[in-house]
Amino acid sequence: MTPIAIGIIGCGNISRTYLENLGSKFPAVRVKACADLVEERARKSAEAFPGVQAMTIAELLADREIGVVVNLTIPAVHYAVARQVLEAGKHVYSEKPLAVAREDGRELLAFATSLGLRVGCAPDTFLGGALQTCRKLIDEGAIGTPVACAGFMMSGGPESWHPDPEFFYKRGAGPLFDMGPYYLTAMVSLLGPVKRVTASTRISFAERVIGSEAKRGQKIQVETPTHVAGSLEFGSGAIGTLIMSFDIRGGSGLRHIEIQGSEGTLSVPDPNNFGDPVRIRRIGAKEWEPVTLTHGYQTNWRGLGTADMAVAAQAKRAHRASGEQAFHVLDVMASLLDAGEAGRHVALSSTCARPAPLPVGLADGQLD
Ligand SMILES: NC(=O)c1ccc[n+]([C@@H]2O[C@H](COP(=O)([O-])OP(=O)(O)OC[C@H]3O[C@@H](n4cnc5c(N)ncnc54)[C@H](O)[C@@H]3O)[C@@H](O)[C@H]2O)c1
Repeated sequence: MTPIAIGIIGCGNISRTYLENLGSKFPAVRVKACADLVEERARKSAEAFPGVQAMTIAELLADREIGVVVNLTIPAVHYAVARQVLEAGKHVYSEKPLAVAREDGRELLAFATSLGLRVGCAPDTFLGGALQTCRKLIDEGAIGTPVACAGFMMSGGPESWHPDPEFFYKRGAGPLFDMGPYYLTAMVSLLGPVKRVTASTRISFAERVIGSEAKRGQKIQVETPTHVAGSLEFGSGAIGTLIMSFDIRGGSGLRHIEIQGSEGTLSVPDPNNFGDPVRIRRIGAKEWEPVTLTHGYQTNWRGLGTADMAVAAQAKRAHRASGEQAFHVLDVMASLLDAGEAGRHVALSSTCARPAPLPVGLADGQLD
C-alpha cells in the first residue's frame, strides 16, 4: 500500500523526533513536507531529512497528496494552525495541549466533525509499552477496582536550563498546562473520564531569574499558577490527587503516578516516557514486584499517535490519541484553575471514551 503522506508545520525542538519516527519507522506513513513561520527552519529540517521537501505553509496546506498535518507549533497558536489545516481539508494532529482556551478546543472539534475530518493530539506516551502494560493489568483486574490514584510532577521550573523559558510562566503554560497533559492523559486512558475537580493553586515566587546562558540574569514575571494541587473525581468513583509544581526547590520524593486498587497497588512510571519500569504490590505483599512489559514501543516513539490516526482514518476505525480525549484533558486543566480561583468544585461538561488498548505482539511500526 502507498504510505500516507504527512506534512509537518513547526520545525522547532521536537520536530526532529517526529521527522525521524514518522519518516522511517512506520511503513504506513511518510513525511512529504515540512513548513515553519521561519522558512529557514523548514529548509534546515528538509536538508537533514532527505526525501522531505521544505514548503511554505500555504504550499503545504495546498498539497493535494498530504492528507494529515502534524502541528508542532507553540501552544499559543495550536488552535489557529490546527483550524487552518482543517480548513484546507486535512486531518490534523497537534502537539499538546490541544488549545490554550477551552472554547477553542471545543470549537476545533465541532468544526472537524462538521467537515468529517479527524483531530488527534499528543501526548501519545500512553500508547508506550509501560502505560499499555498498566492498562492491561488494570483491565485484567490485577489491582481489583481502582480506588484512588495520585500523580506528582515536583520540579523547580525550567528557567535554570531552558534557553527561552519565558513562555512557561505565561497563561496557557505553567506546570499544569505544560506537564499536566502527560499525567492526565495517562490517568484518563487508564481510569476513564473525570466527573468533577477542585484545586488550590498559588504563585510561590512572583519573579523568576533565568539561569541558562544567553539570557542569564534576565527576570520573568510569573502570570500563571506555578503550584497546583488538585483533586479529581473520576466517573468510575476513583479519587485522584494531582500536584504539578515548578516551586519545589529542595527536591521531592513524590514522583510519577500510583494507582491504588481494592486488590493491590500499581506504580505507573513517568508518563512522559514510553517504557520505564512498572511495579505492582499485591495484597499482603511486603515488596514491590517488577512487571515485565507486555507491549512494545518502549523507547521514544513520539509520532505513534499520529501514525495511528493516519491509519485509522484510512481504515475508518477510531484513533487512540483522539481530540476528544485531549479536549477532556484540556477541560480538566482549565477546570482545576477555575476551581482554584473560585474556591469550589467544578463539574466537567466534557467526557471521552477510553481509547482502545493496543494489541499485544505488534511488531515495531505496526499498528493493527
Ligand atoms: N521540546 C520538547 O522536548 C517537547 C516535548 C514534547 C512536546 N513538546 C511540545 O511541542 C510543541 C513545540 O515545542 P518545541 O519545543 O518544538 O517548540 P519550538 O519553539 O522549538 O518550535 C516551535 C516552532 O513553531 C514555529 N511556529 C510558531 N508559530 C507558528 C505558526 N503560526 N505557523 C508555523 N510555525 C510556527 C516556530 O517558528 C518554531 O520553529 C509544544 O506544544 C510543546 O509543548 C515539546
